[in-house]
Amino acid sequence: MADAIIFSAPTRFGNVPSQFKQFLDINGGLWAQGKLANKVVSAMSSASNPHGGQEATILSIYTTMYHWGAIVAAPGYTDPVTFAAGGNPYGTSVTVDQEGNLKEDVKDAVIHQAKRTVTVAGWVKEGQQG
Ligand SMILES: Cc1cc2nc3c(=O)[nH]c(=O)nc-3n(C[C@H](O)[C@H](O)[C@H](O)COP(=O)(O)O)c2cc1C
Repeated sequence: MADAIIFSAPTRFGNVPSQFKQFLDINGGLWAQGKLANKVVSAMSSASNPHGGQEATILSIYTTMYHWGAIVAAPGYTDPVTFAAGGNPYGTSVTVDQEGNLKEDVKDAVIHQAKRTVTVAGWVKEGQQG
């Protein structure tokens, strides 16, 4: 099973889509078996507007992660690429036009967030073995 998980969900009224929530809920069995504890996670989101609720969507994902006992590895301001991508320290955010195209180039922020999540997962795994 994965040591690190990165979620990316579009915003629906400042929250995750119902389908995404359904996905989290149907994994309750794994949670009950303790299989989701200590996963290192982070999240990203999109919306139609720059302030359309991406931060709230990411935080709502993290709320479930706290219930899992997961370890949230948010990007924070650990690299200047976050500023260039709009400065959301909770996770990479982007806006999407009507055709589904990304309006900003957030590639570097996505790469940084992904690398950081995997790096922290490596630290946790090493620590568990040591
Ligand atoms: C039901 C619904 C609610 C949405 N709510 C918001 C919103 O509150 N703010 C916003 O900026 N965009 C909102 N959007 C736009 C989506 O966030 C945007 O389309 C999405 O990030 C792109 O992914 P999609 O292809 O799944 O729609 C909403 C879209 C839908 C369908």
